[in-house]
Amino acid sequence: MNDKLERLRFLDRERNLVARIGAVLGWDQETYMPSAGVAERAEQLAMIEGLAHEKGTLPEIGELLAALGSTDSNPAGDEALAPLDRAYLRTLHRGYTRAVKIPKALVEELARAGSLAQAAWAEARQKSEFKAFAPHLSKMLELRLRVAACIDPAKKPYDVFLDDFEPGSSEESIAKVFGELRTELVALLGKIRSRPQVDDAPIHRHCPEAAQVALSEWVLDELSFPRDRARLDKSAHPFTTTLGADDVRITSRYHEDFFVSSLFSAMHECGHALYELGMAPSPEYARTSLADSASFGIHESQSRMWENVVGRSEAFWKSRWPKLQATLGETLRGVSVEDFVRAVNKVEPSLIRVEADEVTYGLHIILRFEIESALVSGRLKVEDVPAAWNAKCKELLGIEPANDGEGCLQDVHWSFGGFGYFPSYSLGNLYAAQFWNAMRKDIPGLDASVASKAGLEAILAWLRNNIHSKAATLLPDELVLAVTGESLSARHFVKYLEEKYGRVYGF
Ligand code: CO
Repeated sequence: MNDKLERLRFLDRERNLVARIGAVLGWDQETYMPSAGVAERAEQLAMIEGLAHEKGTLPEIGELLAALGSTDSNPAGDEALAPLDRAYLRTLHRGYTRAVKIPKALVEELARAGSLAQAAWAEARQKSEFKAFAPHLSKMLELRLRVAACIDPAKKPYDVFLDDFEPGSSEESIAKVFGELRTELVALLGKIRSRPQVDDAPIHRHCPEAAQVALSEWVLDELSFPRDRARLDKSAHPFTTTLGADDVRITSRYHEDFFVSSLFSAMHECGHALYELGMAPSPEYARTSLADSASFGIHESQSRMWENVVGRSEAFWKSRWPKLQATLGETLRGVSVEDFVRAVNKVEPSLIRVEADEVTYGLHIILRFEIESALVSGRLKVEDVPAAWNAKCKELLGIEPANDGEGCLQDVHWSFGGFGYFPSYSLGNLYAAQFWNAMRKDIPGLDASVASKAGLEAILAWLRNNIHSKAATLLPDELVLAVTGESLSARHFVKYLEEKYGRVYGF
């Protein structure tokens, strides 16, 4: 049995090698590639993704899984196997049975169409012209629906998509959690809007890019970002990508009139990177499907915890205020740490998701969830997306975009066919609050401990131990139950928001 497991891990690592070569190409496309390179890069990525797909769907993998007793009704395989081996078989079985149902030609077509759609989206967004992007969106939707039909024709396509991001969830389960969240967020927003608005002028003062880069690099050191295993570069949109088990790349962008954007992006992406770098269920499972995240939502919980729970707290900045002022010079002259913390926690309905505060962010996600689930089920037509978007924006946030660039064209996700991706962002906030609450029981004085580097190291050690090292051995709901003793609930996040914004807005 051990020979068979060893062979499986070997084949799995080969697939992983090819996929990470693809990640190098993808990272380069977003950071350093000249724009004219896009057409051939699309071909390169299509070939690599096709190859990775081939490696991941070898008949031999299916034979080995079957020989180890891993079947649809018993994916974890032979009960005599060790728990970690059984967790591995369950994960591999899931990925393999999904992948094997999708023809290689369709995988390549998706990669090629996605690459072109992303380029078309970028241009359409710049010109605020949804019409130019609509045919690409239709194409991606059609291809993804074909994928869903290959994987499970009996299941709702949106539920099939959700399985890629948040295994075990469904449109119904998400709608339930989001329903509670929506009511609470709208109520909290109402309370906040009845109070005087905070002044965020100081964080919009001019700040040169070089100072922002220095600030980001400093904050990454505070968060124990390992320099020999990770690096920071610049791109149009911040992201994290893993090129190897010891090579994780993060990116940021710099607005000279809004320096906190790059600061919090760095903390956010650092959270993703630390998770990626800590996924080590055991040495023998390094670089296999088991050394992966539990879900996109769990991934997002790691980024948001560092960005929001730690990074937007007064305790974090109070002890570091002299350093921040010295790094930014003129920009923060005469500003107190209390003013700064209030400014970075300003709540105000806005049009752009990635610039939204913690309270209205969830409403942006609910908007996208409602639109994409309607699109996928056929309740909404592609050409009607802009009107539906604007109407929902008005309903949820009370404001309407002036054009599609700041409306339905603002996010890249649909251009690569990532329907079902958005809910993970909000789930990440909920998981983060619930994990933090559990961490409080193990780390006395947790909220104040972020003041020191040693405190941050203790938090990272807790995350390593309880979440990162578990990697994909547990499904998200199993992980939440194991770590917090209960299933996912919106109430921890709502409580966190109420306490924090009660302090910021004085209610
Ligand atoms: Co993120």
